[in-house]
Amino acid sequence: MDTVLIIDDKKSMVDMLSKTFQSEGFSVLAASSVAEGRKLIQQGEMDIVVTDLRLPDGNGIEVLRAVKESSQLIPVVLMTAHGNIEIAVRAVKDGAYDFLSKPFDPEHLLIIVKRALAESASRKENIILKKEFSRFLDMPDIIGVSKVWDQVMAKVHKVAPMKTTVLVLGESGTGKELVARSIHHLSPRAKEPFVAVNCAAIPKDLIENELFGHEKGAFTGAQDIKPGRFELADKGTIFLDEIGDMEMPLQSKLLRVLQEREIERVGGTKPIKVDLRVIAASNKNLRKEVTEERFREDLFYRLNVFPIVVPPLRERAEDIIPLARHFITLFSRDMNKQEPLLSVEVEKLLMDYDWKGNVRELKNAVERAIIMCDSQTLLSGHFNIAEVHNDKADPDASLRAVSGIATRSAEKARIQDALRKTGGNKSRAAELLQVSYKTLLTKIKDYDIAGKP
Ligand SMILES: Nc1ncnc2c1ncn2[C@@H]1O[C@H](COP(=O)(O)OP(=O)(O)OP(=O)(O)O)[C@@H](O)[C@H]1O
Ligand SMILES: [Mg+2]
Repeated sequence: MDTVLIIDDKKSMVDMLSKTFQSEGFSVLAASSVAEGRKLIQQGEMDIVVTDLRLPDGNGIEVLRAVKESSQLIPVVLMTAHGNIEIAVRAVKDGAYDFLSKPFDPEHLLIIVKRALAESASRKENIILKKEFSRFLDMPDIIGVSKVWDQVMAKVHKVAPMKTTVLVLGESGTGKELVARSIHHLSPRAKEPFVAVNCAAIPKDLIENELFGHEKGAFTGAQDIKPGRFELADKGTIFLDEIGDMEMPLQSKLLRVLQEREIERVGGTKPIKVDLRVIAASNKNLRKEVTEERFREDLFYRLNVFPIVVPPLRERAEDIIPLARHFITLFSRDMNKQEPLLSVEVEKLLMDYDWKGNVRELKNAVERAIIMCDSQTLLSGHFNIAEVHNDKADPDASLRAVSGIATRSAEKARIQDALRKTGGNKSRAAELLQVSYKTLLTKIKDYDIAGKP
């Protein structure tokens, strides 16, 4: 329910307008002078102001100024008697939404008020969206000491200042979005919006509307103009994440945007120019998608101007511990906990683990460990990655199968422990475990235990 502030010194006028607005479901505030109006404006509880131009202690222009000082988003409509049209026209130039000359049909005022409110609502939404999208104005923390990672960052720094389209490829969780944000941050567009679109997460039938926006009346329910993400990203960067999941018909539309650098809202007739830096990302092999005719070849070449491949963690094992330390600091701070030390045993566990989910999986594992840890040192028990790595639990497994899995898991942990205690000396470990040397060797192989001392 919107609130209208009516400012007029003629009581009959205020009463008549109040009735009109109230019958349309508005709430009404009323004032009879500039001073009274100012007070209410400062309290800021109205969505729109309708004011007479001539007031006992001043005029509607002063009201307009007071409103604009408090919020740019509250429209002001002026009511004016004959002979004052020029002042009213100037007021519109100064930011009034519109004016009406007395006498007027209250229905006419209603139409103007509703239109003004609809426009300011869509501007509000726009501002909120822009804020949301440039939430990450700070350069993200990027950790990496390996040579391959240096090469990735060297590319990032080289291409960032250009307007060149970048295609970021890599397995899931490797840091593709982080790379995209860094490029934006290091570019001359850093202060402009970075608008991310996850092409896989937005439902098919909504994505066109999301990307291109729509005109008023484009379809039932389209009561207002809605700018699409391309428009919101104007002058900034649009990040098209999971581009490999985009439907073919939309791929053609995207291609047109990249070629023409203009967009058309759904239901629109005139193209709108957009100045965009495009960064796309995918964890799919796009060349293969092209061969298998799921991805347009021409679009692939448009995007593949400057590819950056983000390598998986297993190709940059040196980064694992520095990343883990970074996340330990991060989450300890977040959870208000004293930062625990990293034990040698955990370092080894982290180094040996196969991080199929890459940095994201490591980050999640550390977060869980920090939650679990109440001591000064992180221990392997705080992580549950060894179990995660084991045979997947089958909900319908027989008792025998369940105890088999449990035995394997327990045996594996015990063997790892014995090897650690003996510094990797297998015959001493076998003695400790009271099994033959040969049995130990078979189990080491069977459980895929890194046998190196
Ligand atoms: N080098 C790094 N330094 C610090 N944090 C990183 C690094 N790489 C990745 N991260 C963090 O790991 C998480 C996953 O990274 P990101 O979302 O960029 O990966 P992605 O490749 O886009 O993953 P997905 O394919 O699942 O979308 C994020 O929280 C990110 O901040
Ligand atoms: Mg991502």
